Amino acid sequence: MASTSFIIVAIDGGAASGKSTSSRTLSEQFNLLHVDTGSFYRAVTAEFLRRGISPGDLAAVQAAVAGLDLGTRIVGRSAQMEIGGRVVPEAEIRSREVNDHVSHFAALPEVRTALLAYQRHQAEVARAGGFRGLVMEGRDIGSVIFPNATFRFFLHADPQERARRRAREGGNDSIAERDRLDSSRKTAPLACPDGAISIDTTHLSLAEVVDTMAVPISARLAS
Ligand code: CDP
Repeated sequence: MASTSFIIVAIDGGAASGKSTSSRTLSEQFNLLHVDTGSFYRAVTAEFLRRGISPGDLAAVQAAVAGLDLGTRIVGRSAQMEIGGRVVPEAEIRSREVNDHVSHFAALPEVRTALLAYQRHQAEVARAGGFRGLVMEGRDIGSVIFPNATFRFFLHADPQERARRRAREGGNDSIAERDRLDSSRKTAPLACPDGAISIDTTHLSLAEVVDTMAVPISARLAS
């Protein structure tokens, strides 16, 4: 008999490592809510920049995070963050200014703590929405947000290949600099957590990356 239990799939990795495309595909394949936590950090960054707050002004950051009114809207199979009832438009969260600032805000423990419960709450959002589980992508999902996730994957790829992928997507983003900041910060740095399944995507097609993750997920759901 097929399992009816709710599953959590955590996918971590550096910029342009293949997380987003493969998470979206798995979400379609297994009816999982897709949660891109990078988009949450980007939305909060866009909001802070809109209010003129800089990552160096800790008092202003603290006051702003305390007053954040966060909600979630499900669009298709994806969870989108609402701030004060508004979803920050995609063009804004992928802007040059946000690319340049997001890792600085994301390094602040105040910001990470404020988003911790919100991210864990996405499991309730997925249950309430009738999903089979959720697939959450980010930098610290398997290490901090859901260390007991049903599956924890860590994607990595050679930096040149990742830069080529981002350029093909039309990005103008300094991914090497963001990776440096994300890997060296004190709170929840980007790293492959113990026990996670590490996948080198440098020479793999999207279909091969997805299959590597889909095979154990299918087996689990069929058991
Ligand atoms: O799309 P890309 O992989 O380039 O980045 P993203 O997933 O949109 O994440 C943008 C930034 O948010 C990262 O560079 C991190 O600084 C931060 N982030 C984080 O600190 N923790 C997460 N769980 C997700 C993103």
